[in-house]
Amino acid sequence: HAIPVITIDGPTASGKGTVAQLVAERLGFHYLDSGALYRLTALSALQAETPLDDEQALAKLAGELHCSFSNGAIFLNGEDVSMAIRAEKVGNAASKVAALPALRRALVELQLRFAQVPGLVADGRDMGTVIFPDACLKVFLTASVEARAERRYKQLIDKGFSANMHDLLKDLNERDARDSNRAIAPLKPAEGAYLLDTSNLTVNQAVEQVLGWYAAVK
Ligand code: C5P
Repeated sequence: HAIPVITIDGPTASGKGTVAQLVAERLGFHYLDSGALYRLTALSALQAETPLDDEQALAKLAGELHCSFSNGAIFLNGEDVSMAIRAEKVGNAASKVAALPALRRALVELQLRFAQVPGLVADGRDMGTVIFPDACLKVFLTASVEARAERRYKQLIDKGFSANMHDLLKDLNERDARDSNRAIAPLKPAEGAYLLDTSNLTVNQAVEQVLGWYAAVK
C-alpha cells in the first residue's frame, strides 16, 4: 500500500510551515520542512564561504549535509541551528541557491526518505509538482503579501531577531519573484491542488480545512 503523502506548497511566509506541522501532529504523520534543507545548505555555504553561484560546490555541500531533525529542532554537524537558519540572510541565500538544478537534484533522495509509515506531510515549493507528484492530497497555500509580511514580522520579533516592515515587504516580493520565475521547479500550484488563501483565516481554520480535504480523499 502506498504511504499517504500530503503536500503543502506556497510562497514564503504563507503560513504553510505552521499549518503543515499541525496537520502532521493531528494525523500522527511525519513532517518534512523542505525549506529547511535549502536553508541548511545556504547556512553551510555561508559558513564555508562558498560563493552562492558555485553550483558544483554547492551541490556537493547539499549532497553531504550532516543534518538531523529531532523534536522540532534542526541540527547541522551536531550543532543546533534551529534559530540560525531562520535569519532573513539565510532565507535569502536559500532562495538563491535553490535556483541551481544540481543542488536541487542533490536534495531529492533525502526528501524522498521522509515518506514513511504512517504518512507524511511535506511543505515547500515543489512538493506536489516535483518531489511527491503522486501525493494523495496537494494543497497550495497562499496569503496576500501584506498578511505574509505581518506574519513574518511577528515571527522574527518573537524569535528575538530585529525586523522592519519595509525591508520585509521588499524581501518577500523579491523572493516570490525569484521562486516563481526560476527555470527549475518554480513555485506554482500542482495539477489538482486545492487552493487555500489564508489571508483571513486563523491557523486553526486552515488546519481544519486541510484535514477535511484529507478525510475526503483518503
Ligand atoms: O520555506 P522557506 O522560506 O524556509 O524556504 C527557503 C527557500 O528555499 C525558499 O525561498 C525557496 O527558494 C527554497 N525552497 C525551494 N523548494 C522547496 C522549499 C524551499 O526552492 N521545496
